[in-house]
Amino acid sequence: MTAELLNGREIAKDYRAGLQNEVEKLKSMGITPNLTVVIVGNDGASLSYVRSKNKAAEKIGMESSIVRLDEDTSEEDVLAAVEKLNQDDNVNGILVQVPLPKQVDENKVLEAIAPHKDVDGFSPVNIGRLYTGQRTFVPCTPLGIMELLKHTGSLEGKTVAVVGRSHIVGQPVAKLLTNENATVTLMHSRTKDMVESLKNFDVVVSAVGKPGLIKGSDLKEGAVVIDVGNTVVDEKLVGDVDFESAKEVASYITPVPGGVGPLTITMVLNNTLLAAKWHNE
Ligand code: GUN
Repeated sequence: MTAELLNGREIAKDYRAGLQNEVEKLKSMGITPNLTVVIVGNDGASLSYVRSKNKAAEKIGMESSIVRLDEDTSEEDVLAAVEKLNQDDNVNGILVQVPLPKQVDENKVLEAIAPHKDVDGFSPVNIGRLYTGQRTFVPCTPLGIMELLKHTGSLEGKTVAVVGRSHIVGQPVAKLLTNENATVTLMHSRTKDMVESLKNFDVVVSAVGKPGLIKGSDLKEGAVVIDVGNTVVDEKLVGDVDFESAKEVASYITPVPGGVGPLTITMVLNNTLLAAKWHNE
């Protein structure tokens, strides 16, 4: 079998066209959604990621700005920058790019973001709301993964292996998949015979950051494969899945790059639009 490609760039483009329409409607009512991204330090990959979010927001008619702080900024000053944005009525969405430098406690900063502006959905209040089924901002990569999976059919009754248990991807996507009535197994570095057991699963979502971890011969025939890995090898972005062998076995597969990444950025925009709507309802 040769898998169908889940083209994240195409799917994101269609989704953003819908968002742009909604932004125009809000603007005609005098509301311009604003996304402000905070970045501490000069990490090249983080900077390019932040600039992409910024550009994507402007492209669909939102306002967007970047607050850049030096690598050696104190925790107190990062918290002060967040508080200033909390108080700024023009700012709907605040996103603090992680990881943060070691002198800054990430949990303290995420907890300081006003929940109604936390478009990443990383603050404890919003995580709690997600797990108790309340309206909230769902983290962007998990939301993007669910959007890709909509193009592969119903998840009801499917067995899903989520590989990786991070707060940003693995854990929230396991919750979203469960909401769709899939049966989810959350796997991680201490899971016994992990790769060998993947043959039992209808869907595999891998968010580990280990190039070549999963090969075609590890997968069930016809499996749906979502590769969230993004590791830079020889200046190229590579996923966790060996694409060439996996595409011969899978029914659907995401490429890296051009799979999950464009959807993550799209969902930052989606959540910023929601923040603007919810603030004005
Ligand atoms: N670092 C890696 N992914 C993300 C993300 O989705 N949001 C933020 N704020 N930082 C990240």
